[in-house]
Amino acid sequence: MDKIGLYVHWPYCSRICPYCDFNIYKNKSENEEALIEAILVDMRYWREQSGARELVSIHFGGGTPSLLSAKNLKRIISLAQELWTATTDLEIGMEANPNNVSVENLLEWRGAGIERVSIGVQSFHSDVLKFLGRDHDGQQARGAIEEAVKIMPRVSADLIYGWTLDGTRQSCANWQEDLDAVLALGVTHISAYQLTIEKDTAFGYATRRGIEKAVDNDLSADLYELGLDVLTKAGFTQYEVSNFARTDAARSRHNRVYWQGLDYIGVGPGAHGRLTNDGVRTATICALKPDTYREHVAEHGHGMDVCDVLSGEDWGQEYLLMGLRITEGISLARYQELSGTQLNADTLNTYIDAGLLQLENDTLRATPSGRLVLDRLSHELLLG
Ligand SMILES: C[S@@+](CC[C@H](N)C(=O)[O-])C[C@H]1O[C@@H](n2cnc3c(N)ncnc32)[C@H](O)[C@@H]1O
Ligand code: SF4
Repeated sequence: MDKIGLYVHWPYCSRICPYCDFNIYKNKSENEEALIEAILVDMRYWREQSGARELVSIHFGGGTPSLLSAKNLKRIISLAQELWTATTDLEIGMEANPNNVSVENLLEWRGAGIERVSIGVQSFHSDVLKFLGRDHDGQQARGAIEEAVKIMPRVSADLIYGWTLDGTRQSCANWQEDLDAVLALGVTHISAYQLTIEKDTAFGYATRRGIEKAVDNDLSADLYELGLDVLTKAGFTQYEVSNFARTDAARSRHNRVYWQGLDYIGVGPGAHGRLTNDGVRTATICALKPDTYREHVAEHGHGMDVCDVLSGEDWGQEYLLMGLRITEGISLARYQELSGTQLNADTLNTYIDAGLLQLENDTLRATPSGRLVLDRLSHELLLG
């Protein structure tokens, strides 16, 4: 049976962070039940489209899914297990904001079936958290992880580095303090994201007005290398550009579904999906706004707004772009099978000689230096 992952997008947040360009809306708790009903209907539609599959992961992302009631988390998890065949080590993960993480909530989430939480810590410095528009401080971030590691089998922390606050760029010493703090708390997985300035966000507008919110490329590379060094020395393995795990079991199996180019269903406003049937792969996007999504489900029995059949070229490109992010790399034969073309041998050899790529039999991988410039590297490989 082919494998499949389920992504559930919960689009509401209690406040909107100035750097974030996800599909998010100010929380309206009165809308929860109606949106959940629509998501449940949508899931049934997707079961018809996917047929029987082995379910490897359920991921609640957002937005802020930790605002959801445990009862509704459980309804979604139970229906998913009814519709698809759960694999023996089914991952059930949720993104959680620190100020939703309490002993009471953790126990309820655990009771609903959640076994992995990724906590959006971002920083342990309260001034930085304020600058990032977060509604928690450093002490709450610490407290959330301390409680979570006691109750959840798997806990991950998200950190953001590479900011410029009131003209002062993040120092290596400051980043080291965040890394030391998270390591001391005993998480088994860390996602370290470089602050990206997205166009239509408060940080994007400020940057266009000349107010720097992020650091330059040179400092960013130094911070990246510091993170890699500190986490590696602490026994973590970088298995993807921004993701580090202490053990194989701690890795995110849901993200692996994306990176390996497997199929996943996306439900909830704006959720993306990929489904392959009889060798044809489609890319789907649900209606973006919560109200539109609900109306769409009521009218059509599903929330899908966009459904594109991927050409072999698109499919191959996506496989390469995703696959080079992970240390497992890609199979060149698989790339050729999907795209119908081979990568340009001269370009490939240039980057291998420069130490940015590594070729071992059929497997192409980015080296640690290659991962630092991965976007440019992948695009140049695809351009030939
Ligand atoms: C989908 S977000 C939502 C998680 C959750 N709502 C929270 O904020 O804690 C997952 C993670 O992406 C990261 N992220 C979001 N926007 C980012 C940006 N512009 N630059 C870097 N990291 C970002 C943050 O670390 C965040 O925790
Ligand atoms: S970072 Fe998280 S809490 Fe902040 S707006 Fe984005 S999804 Fe919402």
